[in-house]
Amino acid sequence: MSGTPRIGILTAGGDCPGLNAVIRGVVKSANTHGYDVVGFLKGYEGLVDPVSYIPLTHKTTTGILSQGGTILGSTNKGRFAATVGVNDRLELDPELIAGVQTTVEHLNIAGLICVGGDGSLAVAQQFHEHGIPVVGVPKTIDNDLSSTAFTFGFFSAVFCATDALDRLHTTAASHERVMVLEVMGRHAGWIALYAGIAGGGDVILIPEIPWTFEDVCQAIIRREQRGRKFTLVVVAEGAELPEGGFVTQDKAESQKQVRLGGIGNFVGKEIEKRLGKETRTVVLGHLQRGGNPTTFDRVLATQYGAHAVRLIVEKKFGHMVTFHPPDMNDVPIIDAIKLSSVCPNCSAVQAARALGVCFGDNYHEPPFRCPDDGETATMNGGAGFCSLPLPLPTSP
Ligand code: F6P
Repeated sequence: MSGTPRIGILTAGGDCPGLNAVIRGVVKSANTHGYDVVGFLKGYEGLVDPVSYIPLTHKTTTGILSQGGTILGSTNKGRFAATVGVNDRLELDPELIAGVQTTVEHLNIAGLICVGGDGSLAVAQQFHEHGIPVVGVPKTIDNDLSSTAFTFGFFSAVFCATDALDRLHTTAASHERVMVLEVMGRHAGWIALYAGIAGGGDVILIPEIPWTFEDVCQAIIRREQRGRKFTLVVVAEGAELPEGGFVTQDKAESQKQVRLGGIGNFVGKEIEKRLGKETRTVVLGHLQRGGNPTTFDRVLATQYGAHAVRLIVEKKFGHMVTFHPPDMNDVPIIDAIKLSSVCPNCSAVQAARALGVCFGDNYHEPPFRCPDDGETATMNGGAGFCSLPLPLPTSP
């Protein structure tokens, strides 16, 4: 088929703030390079049987920069679900791949931009292996993709979780309660760590740092001793329980990925049981995925969109755009679809520890000199705390 070459774009997997900003970035930049753009609907589903797409122009994308969600729709289920849990691969039906090849040829698609997280980009990788001209854009609130410093959507989710912590702070202080906030992130603790730091969390529990209830309770007791009668606990949905295993909801409809969730209530109840301290739990859930992207995510998503078009112009297929501040770059998709976890010794964790944040792991700060009495004390889990930890009440 002749005529103006086209770029195709689709948004796959769980939605997140900034998807529309990527779409807009692609359309404007593609037009500058002489391409028309079509958007496939409902993730990969729109590529085949029945093929469903819409033309994307300046007119149809005007005003979407700041809008959450995706004008193309998305799904993390269906015929193109290509992962089972973390890093596992499920081969796509060859008939589906053949159908996609036909669509790409018939619609004169010079390059297909797949905007997605690890599961969706695993699909793009399989397309690439079958000669379909794809490039990837890293999307997920979880920030768990390798090879890029940040996925877009992450900071918008962190903003939401931080706002929740700000709100919980005042009510926790008024009622002298422990407040537990459960945040998303699947098997990575990025959202919990960043929101915990930004929102002044006192305890942060993440999958990357093994923790115990004893240490969490000790941290709460130490705060009490210092006159801090309330505590904010941030827990990542994928934090592993001390005895092993995750707290999960029902399996997803597709039976492909287990649905995490519920650890917040588990932690809250256990704290209340052990300390006899009034505790409340909030599960933030999909609020973290909704709403407008932050300014940072708008900038990042726009750059990702423009850079993805550049990869197509350069015929650099099978690559995903990456961000290593201040540069945009790219890597083979295969290198990006690996889990990126929080390094337990990273500077963010170190900074949090230096401020007295407890990760539930009995970490001991080096000895320091107490400014009040001149005696050397151990800053055990709390900056400025100068007395020895009390024994824990035994659990009933
Ligand atoms: O990957 C993004 C994410 O929001 C995870 O943080 C969460 O575990 C999952 O998706 C929820 O998926 P669903 O929208 O299917 O409930």
